[in-house]
Amino acid sequence: MDELTPPGDGGSGGDSGVAYFVDRQPQVADFEHAVIAGLRAARKEIPAKFFYDEEGSHIFNRICGTEEYYVTRTEIGLLSDRRDDIRRLAGPGAVVIEYGCGSAAKINLLLDALEDPAEYAAIDISPEHLRFVVEDISARHPGLRVGGICADFTGGFELPSEVAGGGAKLGFFPGSTIGNQTPEEAGAFLGRVRENVGDDGALLIGVDLKKDAGRLNRAYNDEAGHTADFNLNLLRRIERELDSEVNVDGFEHHAFYNEGEGRIEMHLRAKSAQRIRIGGETFRFSEGETIHTENSYKYTVGEFARLAARAGFAVGAAWTDADDLFSIHFLKAA
Ligand code: AVI
Repeated sequence: MDELTPPGDGGSGGDSGVAYFVDRQPQVADFEHAVIAGLRAARKEIPAKFFYDEEGSHIFNRICGTEEYYVTRTEIGLLSDRRDDIRRLAGPGAVVIEYGCGSAAKINLLLDALEDPAEYAAIDISPEHLRFVVEDISARHPGLRVGGICADFTGGFELPSEVAGGGAKLGFFPGSTIGNQTPEEAGAFLGRVRENVGDDGALLIGVDLKKDAGRLNRAYNDEAGHTADFNLNLLRRIERELDSEVNVDGFEHHAFYNEGEGRIEMHLRAKSAQRIRIGGETFRFSEGETIHTENSYKYTVGEFARLAARAGFAVGAAWTDADDLFSIHFLKAA
């Protein structure tokens, strides 16, 4: 059952013009079950979606500002350069549905580019971050219907009835977050988005491109250490939220481009023999053993178009920057 809470409740304060806030937030038990199941596996892993508690969302924003992480600024540049094309392709009165609200700069660019958007519905797993974003967007775009849906959209996801409809639905999934799913999962996710947006809908999506390994390795190993901090925050989150014992300093960030798989892999590597205790269960690590915490798949424009086609989308347009670092695709329901 969805839970509806007052939009301003526990948010950034002040009078809120937010139309709805639907709470389908995963429970602490989901985190605990996922961590325990992942640490019991022969190759230990924790799903990347658990990076994004309030602290993790803040650290991720710091990553986006680093020189090495070209993704955010390149995508913002593309959205800005292509705003007239986006306006034309989307048409008037769009209902914008953002899957994971990361960057205010990107959504503001899109809303400003569109002709009379009817609604902005943001979906995010972190309730604090979501409340902040929807209140901010509502304040910046008076007259726009704005709502928040706190949910994990990586599983099965149906739009709640609060999303009013009216104009054609335009999904927005920037930042190459699609890369954090395996190609199979990404295909299934695109299929669900295709159902969400309907037959006259579209999806504007950012996809990171395959490129030389050196550039990719630098992007996930920034000098200031924000990516390491982001990765290690997962262990701090386990310490904070679960009945657990973790020696966070006993682990280190390890990220590298796996060329064969076409993906960056992030791991937490034990610097020496370690153990993590959660709820009475002990997980042992030998020196060098890792917890696989994230994949970030990279695509060519053609590879991604084929994935989208299998999910029922046709490419209306695909744009890349001058250095071929990043792409955005305007996909139309086929
Ligand atoms: C959110 N996601 C697309 C980022 C990425 O590039 O895979 C998460 C990230 N992990 C480390 N740096 C950034």
